Amino acid sequence: MTKLSVNINKIATLRNARGGGIPDVAQAAADCQRFGAQGITLHPRPDERHIRYADVRQIAPLITTEFNIEGYPSPDFMALVLSVQPTQATLVPDPPNALTSNAGWNTEREGGFLKNIVGQLHGRGIRASIFVDADIKMVQAAAQTNADRIELYTQPYAEWYAADPVQAAAPYAAAAREAIRLGLQVNAGHDLNLANLRYFVQNVPQVSEVSIGHALVCDALYYGLENTIQLYLKQLC
Ligand code: PXP
Repeated sequence: MTKLSVNINKIATLRNARGGGIPDVAQAAADCQRFGAQGITLHPRPDERHIRYADVRQIAPLITTEFNIEGYPSPDFMALVLSVQPTQATLVPDPPNALTSNAGWNTEREGGFLKNIVGQLHGRGIRASIFVDADIKMVQAAAQTNADRIELYTQPYAEWYAADPVQAAAPYAAAAREAIRLGLQVNAGHDLNLANLRYFVQNVPQVSEVSIGHALVCDALYYGLENTIQLYLKQLC
């Protein structure tokens, strides 16, 4: 079954809007797990506009499920990840001021850099996942970095889902098949939501884990966090 990792960055965005400590991001991480999430994802950015490096250190000991830290592997990010030692680090190529991740790595061009980073992660027993578009060539070059997983960037799927779900999912199914053939496990994330998630995992059944933040936190405004996590889990069975 595909696991649900909840990205709680948006909860930190809300907290940061006012300063102070409400909502309590560490409590939210603990509650997401209590409500059934099978993982927690944090994405600290250099400007710390949502999750801060200090949050990552505070939340790390509270994680009893799978802990995923994602971000651009800058020296600061790597120092944080190597000291905190999450279950998994997901490497994303976004420039420091990007609003959100908006493309996968060019693994052909950046393969040498990524291989070095993957080696550092493996040295601490951290699973390495590389964020890529649903592009067979990028998947093949990701396999050359010795990464354990790829995370498929699902924003294009989400954008095309309503107009043509079959065409929207097809490149992801092909990319996931190629990844598995090459010995990589497959994650997915970005813009997945209650409307498009079930169809995605039905058509890309190789996906080990989805990481979902924005839509899930928005849904929680209406349904509450506990109900929302249950609703997302139901899409995955
Ligand atoms: N995966 C990666 C690499 C991301 O950068 C993000 C957004 O921080 C997500 C997944 C989750 O995307 P969303 O917030 O749209 O669910």
